[in-house]
Amino acid sequence: MHILSSLLGVCTVCAMALPASAGPTRRNFTPDYVSHPDRTDAIKDAFQRSWDGYYKYAFPHDSLKPVSNTYSDDRNGWGASAVDALSTALVMGNADAVAQILAHIQNINFDVAVGDISLFETTIRYLGGLLSGYDLMTTPDALSDDISINSTLLAAVLSQAEHLADNLKVAFETPSGVPDNDLQFNPPRRNGSQTNGLATIGTLVLEWTRLSDLTGNPMYGSLAQRGEWYLLNPQPRKLAEPFPGLVGTNVNITNGQFLDGTGGWVGGDDSFYEYLIKMYVYDPVRFGYYKERWILAVESSMRHLASHPASRPDLTFLAMFNGRKQQFLSQHLACFDAGNIILGGLVLHQERYVQFGLDLAASCHDTYTSTVTGIGPETFSWQDNGTLAFLNASNNSPAPKSQTDFWKRAGFWIDDGQYVLRPEVIESYYYAYRATGDTKYQDWAWDAFLAINATCAAGSGYSSITNVNVAGGGSFQDFQESFWFAEVLKYSYLIQADDAVYQVQADNSGEFVYNTECHPVRRFGPRPYW
Ligand SMILES: *[C@@H]1O[C@H](CO)[C@@H](O)[C@H](O)[C@H]1NC(C)=O
Ligand SMILES: *[C@@H]1O[C@H](CO)[C@@H](O)[C@H](O)[C@H]1NC(C)=O
Ligand SMILES: *[C@@H]1O[C@H](CO)[C@@H](O)[C@H](O)[C@H]1NC(C)=O
Ligand SMILES: *[C@@H]1O[C@H](CO)[C@@H](O)[C@H](O)[C@H]1NC(C)=O
Ligand SMILES: *[C@@H]1O[C@H](CO)[C@@H](O)[C@H](O)[C@H]1NC(C)=O
Ligand SMILES: *[C@@H]1O[C@H](CO)[C@@H](O)[C@H](O)[C@H]1NC(C)=O
Repeated sequence: MHILSSLLGVCTVCAMALPASAGPTRRNFTPDYVSHPDRTDAIKDAFQRSWDGYYKYAFPHDSLKPVSNTYSDDRNGWGASAVDALSTALVMGNADAVAQILAHIQNINFDVAVGDISLFETTIRYLGGLLSGYDLMTTPDALSDDISINSTLLAAVLSQAEHLADNLKVAFETPSGVPDNDLQFNPPRRNGSQTNGLATIGTLVLEWTRLSDLTGNPMYGSLAQRGEWYLLNPQPRKLAEPFPGLVGTNVNITNGQFLDGTGGWVGGDDSFYEYLIKMYVYDPVRFGYYKERWILAVESSMRHLASHPASRPDLTFLAMFNGRKQQFLSQHLACFDAGNIILGGLVLHQERYVQFGLDLAASCHDTYTSTVTGIGPETFSWQDNGTLAFLNASNNSPAPKSQTDFWKRAGFWIDDGQYVLRPEVIESYYYAYRATGDTKYQDWAWDAFLAINATCAAGSGYSSITNVNVAGGGSFQDFQESFWFAEVLKYSYLIQADDAVYQVQADNSGEFVYNTECHPVRRFGPRPYW
């Protein structure tokens, strides 16, 4: 039985016992991995093409607009794509790009910013990118032979991360310690929000704790962990936690109380759940309670959110919830859930979780293979295959007439057909492959890459598109997000690449844990692997 209540005195759900089958199980196989140099070469080419376009038309600004060959400063003007690309350039062994990025990092002025600052986006892209770059460059086995690191530039990577965090930390100066996500600089100040969200509060703790562990200054980790405390001990209980471990979305930053009980594994909530288990992977000694909360959330999700479409009961998606009422819609963003649940299954030696994650990954695969372009949509819905009476429930309506045929075949219908260069489906294939060694997942990732490469290549780089379900993807939105470099290209590459010190290992012996922006962060604590 769990020790949550005795430790913190607030647990009302501790009576929920895990199923009898929940004991850890020793796996009787270790996956064999194969690499595909032809594929990794093609993915490196795509990186080079995107990088060249960015460097020529946008650097040192944030993002390339590849069709108009200009730039956007959508992430405060510090060169978001360059910082986000660093860890990918390092694992790909791209010495020229690494040199260009390191030369830039030492010159970033984090005291002035273009536009309002998001604490969350700045943490996952910039802090995560800098800390990951530092970790990779200080792990000898992680660097390819043709990369040599200038120690002055290396030191600047960490000191710039620290300087950035020193400017951002004003966010935590709230009555409760729950951070304000919205900031302005010069001088650093809060913009005055009254509320913050689950993901934006709960996706800081890995980066800020890592910064503390690298600098020896415990202040950064303490700030993020204090904000996280309100998410781990949600109040008011009845409203905030409709199912054990599954919590609401909006939090009052004055008193740390939840304002609703609406949520899921979707955007706005997603990476809070992701980081619960990743903190345990980072350091099982300090973050055991985070793991307990993740287990509750996953058990509740398997019991209450797992849903099978009436037209394709072979598929499994996770529903959202409004209180205890399910809502049968999901997102490309939510497809990370498969990979995260597989990771937890590996780390906790729970094959039930691995299997459930593989089911979710296979269903996200169908959101790709069912469309004209072979790319999955931004948001989609389905009708749950519940009882006959439930089929008519107000929260379980049938497909819109215009998509009846598509729904019968695909098991979902499309609410928003954009694709904005998101990684989550390929991310989940990556964990599925590392868990099983089944080359089917490499093939799925390659097919996805080819579809994206064929549909989104635009002008001097790659662009988001308006409609995955028409030939050619509709039209280009003329925008290349920085996470294209950090995530899509890195997961696409890693799943086809040689084994390496930064790869996830099925027996939990890996040296790194990935932040939500796919930046590998060096693990801190002991590694209890079998
Ligand atoms: C390292 O980089 C610094 C800063 O750009 C430069 O002044 C120095 O000469 C470089 N050192 C070497 C050995 O290249
Ligand atoms: C910052 O505050 C201004 C003025 O109240 C508001 O218009 C703006 O939307 C706020 N920005 C953010 C990111 O909340
Ligand atoms: C947040 O809590 C404070 C203190 O209880 C209260 O005065 C304020 O109205 C609440 N804000 C919201 C948005 O509920
Ligand atoms: C829904 O689909 C699942 C998985 O295929 C199946 O086990 C279940 O019996 C189905 N439920 C109903 C009511 O048909
Ligand atoms: C569902 O609702 C439709 C229209 O209201 C009705 O004709 C049908 O009988 C209902 N089916 C069930 C199983 O309740
Ligand atoms: C990817 O797209 C680029 C740009 O259109 C093209 O040159 C390249 O051949 C494509 N790669 C593959 C493997 O199809």
